[in-house]
Amino acid sequence: MAKMWAGRTDGVTDKIADDFNSSIKFDSRMYKQDILGSMAHASMLGVKNIISQADADALIAGLEGILSDIESGKLAIDFTCEDIHMFVEQELTARIGDLGKKLHTARSRNDQVALDTRMYLRDRTNSIIAKIKDLLSAIVLKAEEHKTSIMPGYTHLQRAQPITFGHHLMAYAMMLIRDIERFTDLLGRINISPIGCCALAGTTYDTDRNYEAKKLGFDDIALNSIDGVSDRDFCVEFASNCSILMMHLSRFAEEIILWSSWEFKFVELSDAYTTGSSIMPQKKNSDMAELVRGKTGRVYGDLIGLLTMLKGLPLAYNKDMQEDKEAVFDAADTVDMCLDVFAPMVATMKVIPENMLLAAQKGFINATDLADYLVKKDLPFRSAYKICGQIVGDCIKAGKVLETMTIKEYKAYSDLFDKDLYEEISLSTCVAKRISEGGTSPKSVEKQIQFVKGKIENA
Ligand code: ARG
Repeated sequence: MAKMWAGRTDGVTDKIADDFNSSIKFDSRMYKQDILGSMAHASMLGVKNIISQADADALIAGLEGILSDIESGKLAIDFTCEDIHMFVEQELTARIGDLGKKLHTARSRNDQVALDTRMYLRDRTNSIIAKIKDLLSAIVLKAEEHKTSIMPGYTHLQRAQPITFGHHLMAYAMMLIRDIERFTDLLGRINISPIGCCALAGTTYDTDRNYEAKKLGFDDIALNSIDGVSDRDFCVEFASNCSILMMHLSRFAEEIILWSSWEFKFVELSDAYTTGSSIMPQKKNSDMAELVRGKTGRVYGDLIGLLTMLKGLPLAYNKDMQEDKEAVFDAADTVDMCLDVFAPMVATMKVIPENMLLAAQKGFINATDLADYLVKKDLPFRSAYKICGQIVGDCIKAGKVLETMTIKEYKAYSDLFDKDLYEEISLSTCVAKRISEGGTSPKSVEKQIQFVKGKIENA
């Protein structure tokens, strides 16, 4: 069959070219946005007397019918069509006759596809924000339970200073809050209507772009028609926000994997979010967390693919841009799946504070506090640091820890040591004392929790 755009050419293309050129396999998921956009367009054409009101009403009724028939499963998408825009127009014309051909007045597929993609990503962005909030709620709940559970904090993956598990979890909450902010900020840039930009130069018809934009819930219209049809910054930003979010999830996933190992055993994932091995009966693998970590790479790929696709494109529309959709769809689907599994995985994760404490007691992580003890007695920090370094070194050789050294032994290093040092280096004191804003003290963690709770409610 000749294409709808047959004219200059006979519109008969090779089957291989058709398959190569077609995007309906993936853009059919935008059927709703496409139809709603067309309804707003038909309405504007009627209001502006570009077509008669009766024609506009018939177009809208026809489109409504198509939408409800697709949704009810009565109408199947015809995958031999070039794209979703062609399918809807073809179906409309089949239903209401030649009048259907009036729909494309003062419009092009170039502004149409930009419109659909923006409307589609607007929905996906809102749903991602909601899903991040679900994960945040799970994190905050766990953090609240473990405001006082002591664990070693690490730098270079070496035990560094005592922190609470609640504090550690709230670090991820802060990252996710920024992710929400990034997606919210992006919504403002997505929500600019390109419809009416037409092929690239605007139109000679007396259209009302603001009318269409308002009907479709946009905040504003694109002010340059060439930019309106060529801009895919919003796709890049979407994939970029997804990438940053995935990077956060991946770091969290990596820690959950480490913590679940026998070497750490700080947490145990629920059976519902782990798998067994087909050969080793003792295994309980953190596959979900590993997959989140693994899928991060593909979302980065979506971002890099988009950036690379766009970098050499002359203005305005080029068919290369059809490649934008699979990238953003894949990023959105991947992020959705990861968030869907992450929230319940965290919510059902069993935390084992005894093991965290055990690890915290072994790593000399109160050595900074021992040095601070001397500093408070007026020894310069560098000298205190040196003395404590020697003590730690000697302890390691003797198989001792700071808590089990006698006061007599301490005195051999410095006269400034006294009995009150034990209270100073007890891990709970070390944590409770870190009262600086944002620090690990339970009070500070509580403040962070309240901040995040407020954001979940109001962001
Ligand atoms: N399927 C196309 C896309 O996704 C729609 C726009 C086609 N425009 C054109 N001038 N061929 O980009």
